[in-house]
Amino acid sequence: MSTDLFIGGGVPDYGTQQYLSLKYANRHGLVAGATGTGKIVTLQIMAEGFANVGVPVFLSDVKGDLSGLAMAGDPNHKLHAPFTERAKKIGFADFKYEAFPVTFWDLFGEQGHPVRTTVSEMGPLLLGQLLDLSEAQ
Ligand SMILES: Nc1ncnc2c1ncn2[C@@H]1O[C@H](COP(=O)(O)OP(=O)(O)OP(=O)(O)O)[C@@H](O)[C@H]1O
Ligand SMILES: [Mg+2]
Repeated sequence: MSTDLFIGGGVPDYGTQQYLSLKYANRHGLVAGATGTGKIVTLQIMAEGFANVGVPVFLSDVKGDLSGLAMAGDPNHKLHAPFTERAKKIGFADFKYEAFPVTFWDLFGEQGHPVRTTVSEMGPLLLGQLLDLSEAQ
């Protein structure tokens, strides 16, 4: 079993592969970068890496950027060539299309696994937003 998660190729020439050591993966981390620099893809890669070594991952995915983890990519997709080229460039040897076991949780219990919680655990702010309450309410 691998002890490191492949994160990407280091700048400027992508020559050095960057890894996250699993033994340090319980520390807090921050993925930061300008718009469009690959923050979400980095999180996906980390989630897939954890799943591959049997570590369950809980992701709060407000915009739906990460839900694609549940489906394998398509070798007939127009981005297949750029993806494989990029994987080769950064030394991502394990590159393959794969669906990951994803359970969607749904606060409303309509389109996914219902989230069970008590009113007191939810807190006034979250509850207020769910019920669409005003500041005064
Ligand atoms: N390692 C990578 N190599 C090549 N392209 C990448 C890589 N990581 C991300 N991309 C591409 O760059 C674009 C932006 O990636 P991503 O959505 O992860 O960025 P982001 O930092 O989350 O962006 P935003 O700030 O807009 O939320 C996407 O088209 C993605 O496919
Ligand atoms: Mg993003």
